[in-house]
Amino acid sequence: MSYDVIVIGSGPGGYVCAIKAAQLGLKIAVIEKRATFGGTCLNIGCIPSKALLHASEMFAHASHGMESLGVEFSGVKLNLEKMMAHKDAVVKANVDGVAYLFKKNKIDAFQGTGKVLGQGRVQVTADSGETQVLEAKNIVIATGSDVAGIPGVKVDIDEKVIISSTGGIALDKVPERLIVVGGGVIGLELGSVWNRLGAKVTVVEYLDMILGGMDGEVSRQFQRMLAKQGMEFKLGAKVTCVEKTADGAKVTFEPVKGGDAQTLEADAVLVATGRKAFTDNLGLADAGVALDNRGRVEIDENFRTNVAGIYAIGDVVKGPMLAHKAEDEGVAVAEIMAGQHGHVNYNAIPGVVYTQPEVASVGKTEEELKAAGIAYKAGKFPFTANGRARAMETTEGFVKVLADAATDRVLGVHIVGFGAGEMIHEATVLMEFGGSSEDLGRTTHAHPTMSEAVKEAALATFFKPIHI
Ligand code: NAI
Repeated sequence: MSYDVIVIGSGPGGYVCAIKAAQLGLKIAVIEKRATFGGTCLNIGCIPSKALLHASEMFAHASHGMESLGVEFSGVKLNLEKMMAHKDAVVKANVDGVAYLFKKNKIDAFQGTGKVLGQGRVQVTADSGETQVLEAKNIVIATGSDVAGIPGVKVDIDEKVIISSTGGIALDKVPERLIVVGGGVIGLELGSVWNRLGAKVTVVEYLDMILGGMDGEVSRQFQRMLAKQGMEFKLGAKVTCVEKTADGAKVTFEPVKGGDAQTLEADAVLVATGRKAFTDNLGLADAGVALDNRGRVEIDENFRTNVAGIYAIGDVVKGPMLAHKAEDEGVAVAEIMAGQHGHVNYNAIPGVVYTQPEVASVGKTEEELKAAGIAYKAGKFPFTANGRARAMETTEGFVKVLADAATDRVLGVHIVGFGAGEMIHEATVLMEFGGSSEDLGRTTHAHPTMSEAVKEAALATFFKPIHI
């Protein structure tokens, strides 16, 4: 069978690429080794974790969050089995949705493992062992990423006691004590889920901050908020051993700056120390496709590998491992293969941590601007001074706008607060259009909304906020 494009992998990068390319009139095949479409994000990542984050948030709220609003509950009970069933139903609806979209767009889907045989040829090996070879003008590698483990430490992840994010969304009981290795996005999101459901959560993080790479002020305040919710943090601590014990597991870590090692015991340990590009059994070496020094498929600015007609997108290439970055690359590469001019603006890719409150950011942090020697001005506005936040008791957090000192062009926006993950998009659109803090501050925002804090932070950047 011959196609215009074969896409290997049906995660947000691959399936969006396939649909966009089909919309542009190309004949598409998708190869997926899982039984369902949607990749890590839909099956075991973004979507199920958000289902659990929402459900656990409702539980925490009902348990102790609403007396001051005059809403009293008694006998709030956790039914973990039902919560997991909700998560599974959400996953099913989403993966079925992708199958429907493939049909609608006349995309041929092949279940099996794809192996690149060279330019224009891919072998599919089904679970039964049966193989077939597909041909196409172009191939897109969208095979995503996998759990990286702890650098230099051998960890036996059984997904029951020592778990990765995969086990972290599927425990059948709440661990009394949970140690999270890695204070990044996965550690804090899943740590929040189990903390809300009653686990005593301790996060052990190598860096001396959580969410490394985020704006330092955001990270510090956010850590205080999570600590108030009961999470404990061991920062500047390098985990050197994770082992099972008779009744759980233990984690050994030593201060990065030097000093005595410490051991903590727990009922479960979540290893959340990053992900790595997934290229196993893809045949890339034999096909002559070059990888970079971190094992990612090397691409140029048009997503082309060094082999003609082979492209790569998403987690398997450089850049942030984010579903929406992969999706936008999928659209861009589809447009390029169809003879159009696809493009992704890497300066305006928002990042969101779906905890409560949420953390959201787009563009540069203060630390990055300082390091790059860019003169900037900063404006900040706290949600304590926002009327809607007071009405909803969501006054934790703030908005920070960073703009070029000379031109006022907005270079970064950072929000920690309720609904940050939605509010960040007005900043993203503004940055996409090269807008200034004055543009944002002079844009009418509906009252009363949390988003008025974004406008006020912009006002604070180019002149003065009104409400503080
Ligand atoms: P991460 O890279 O965000 O965080 C891993 C953390 O582990 C780092 O802070 C690192 O310093 C720490 N670490 C590494 N070795 C350590 C050691 N020996 N001892 C103690 N700490 C150690 O990785 P994470 O959270 O696993 O997420 C993987 C990827 O998935 C990320 O790229 C993330 O952006 C993406 N993701 C995004 C989500 C979102 O956008 N909401 C949700 C979940 C994942």
